[in-house]
Amino acid sequence: MQSIPYGRQNIEQDDIDAVVKTLTADFLTQGPKVKEFEDRFAEYVGSKYAVAVNNATSGLHLSVLALGLKEGERVITTSITFAASANCIRYAGGEVWFADIDPDTYLLSLESTKKLIESKPKGFFKGIIPVDFAGLPVDLEDFRALANEHDLWIIEDACHAPGGFFTDSKGDKQMCGNGNYADIGVFSFHPVKHIACGEGGMVTTNSESLYKKLSSLRTHGITKENMSENHGGWFYEMQELGFNYRLTDIQCALGITQLAKNNKGVARRNEIANTYKQAFNGKVKYQNLPEGTYNAHHLFVVEVEDRKGLYDFLRTHNIFAQIHYIPVHTLPYYKEIGYGSADLSNAETYYSKCISLPMFPSLTDDEQAFVIEKVLSYIYG
Ligand SMILES: Cc1ncc(COP(=O)(O)O)c(C=O)c1O
Repeated sequence: MQSIPYGRQNIEQDDIDAVVKTLTADFLTQGPKVKEFEDRFAEYVGSKYAVAVNNATSGLHLSVLALGLKEGERVITTSITFAASANCIRYAGGEVWFADIDPDTYLLSLESTKKLIESKPKGFFKGIIPVDFAGLPVDLEDFRALANEHDLWIIEDACHAPGGFFTDSKGDKQMCGNGNYADIGVFSFHPVKHIACGEGGMVTTNSESLYKKLSSLRTHGITKENMSENHGGWFYEMQELGFNYRLTDIQCALGITQLAKNNKGVARRNEIANTYKQAFNGKVKYQNLPEGTYNAHHLFVVEVEDRKGLYDFLRTHNIFAQIHYIPVHTLPYYKEIGYGSADLSNAETYYSKCISLPMFPSLTDDEQAFVIEKVLSYIYG
């Protein structure tokens, strides 16, 4: 059996053709493919606007800036995520506050978030960044109600979840990143994610003013619109301090063909998840799926008592499982700035047991059967 990674991109001939075609076109960057990708992505998730960026970390950075986060202001997120969900708060000089996770869904717990918010005076926090961890959509309707009560914004870190949805209390499907309940959604196109651009990201919103701010900050704050003066066709103004967080046409061409097969990929991911669940039911704990929720399954995580033993055992069989994630509050940088002793017992218990098994559309049935057999034989002998 060849080595089996935990995740893998799926590049086919149409992806290659699209990239090659763009290489000989007029624009390698800042050309028509960017807008086309943005329009298609917005249509796919159901948001009004989408802004392509060079990676999701940049997208998260732009999002907190667009929402006006300032030095010393406080934002709540989960510790069971990639560091970028918290780092974006630090980039703006903000303070990260971690609430605990739900032990069954592994998502930011609404109760823990509410408790944290209510333990402080009104106005103490500015926003919440829930993460659709592993591809499981957060119920943003509940978070929106809490956020409205306390005048907070919400950035949905949807990096794991393009194609996922939850069902709201009216029975409507709410696609991750559609902006109906969160102010902004952020997606990643790193190759282990659903849509591979090499590096890449997308920021979605339904707010025209946020869209304009995000677009400006992505390109140095430079604009040719609403200028205070105009000396000719070449003229532009830099109206605020922005960045170069642009995505190239080459990457957007790849993003467009990748996006077109995302539904198929997510369906295959769910098929793989169901096979794991059938094999592990009653034997190995896995992420709970709330009713009406469609998990986009970036990951398939299980919890086992001897996690390190299983991880090492799988490697001897060329199965490269992975751990998602080392809790962010325990990373040396966050420990040094005072988070090491945060009381996040669900996150820490989860981390001591979690392991992500191979999950990607081109995983074959034989490979998956091999993984299942090795996991069960390690646990049950
Ligand atoms: C939950 C989450 N947020 C943000 C990011 C950052 O994405 P990128 O690598 O595109 O900057 C990642 C990437 O792993 C992630 O998993």
